[in-house]
Amino acid sequence: MTESTARVAVIGGSGLYSLFDPESSEKRRIDTPYGQAVVTIGQLGGRTVAFLTRHGADHSVAPHLINYRANIWALASLGVKAILSSAAVGGVSPDYLPGTLVLTDQYIDRTHGRRDTFFDMVSVQHLASADPFDPELHALAAATLTGDDVKTSGTVVVIQGPRFSTRAESLWFRAAGAHTVNMTLYPEVPLAAELNIGTVNLSYVTDSDAGVADDEKQGEPLSAALVFSRLKEAQPRIVAAIEAIIRALPEDYAGRELIDPAEVAKVMAQ
Ligand code: ADE
Repeated sequence: MTESTARVAVIGGSGLYSLFDPESSEKRRIDTPYGQAVVTIGQLGGRTVAFLTRHGADHSVAPHLINYRANIWALASLGVKAILSSAAVGGVSPDYLPGTLVLTDQYIDRTHGRRDTFFDMVSVQHLASADPFDPELHALAAATLTGDDVKTSGTVVVIQGPRFSTRAESLWFRAAGAHTVNMTLYPEVPLAAELNIGTVNLSYVTDSDAGVADDEKQGEPLSAALVFSRLKEAQPRIVAAIEAIIRALPEDYAGRELIDPAEVAKVMAQ
């Protein structure tokens, strides 16, 4: 399965569709058992990095229709062992205000019907998920971010989308202990973990969700246009944070063996 081209990948969320100079990067279409994924290989932070844009180059793929399995499989086939996933999130906790960078370390899954395992055809696997993001990568990333508008911990509730939450849902997520809300971090994170790829997440708070957190302060109702305009404004800061985190990640992941579900099936069948 492994060609070993890049050890590190960046998955770009809404608003992040390219990361490299087109002159010095290479776009590849990678066939996987789940369909094709498009990955660009380039240089960032002194490292060879595989970049994949979650919603497609023109933001045409809705969160519930993303081929998460093809994306993660394609990255594994390149030899990727660490993923820096970037995402736009809404803030549901009052202290996760728009403009905050968050290193998410827990998720609550509120999606439904998404294909969230590689092990449904070949064997059953029960993935340990107590710490769904890689604690070591998280600590390295946290050391690169400073400032009042940074949170080095946060729980995201992942909703099905594509609609945003109702005010009641948003208040409920807050009461349940979530700090942020997003539509895409599930099942990307457990799928990567199933193949033994570690994920660290960098989220940017674009809005206060249904307006419950900072209605008085911001006064601007949530819309997709608001999310995109705030992302565009913050792009240089987000890309700089991504680059700093990539620089801080270890050069190699010698101890981390990628898992090929087909190989697991063969062992189970013996
Ligand atoms: N992405 C950015 N803002 C969001 C919100 N409020 N809800 C879900 N996903 C989001």
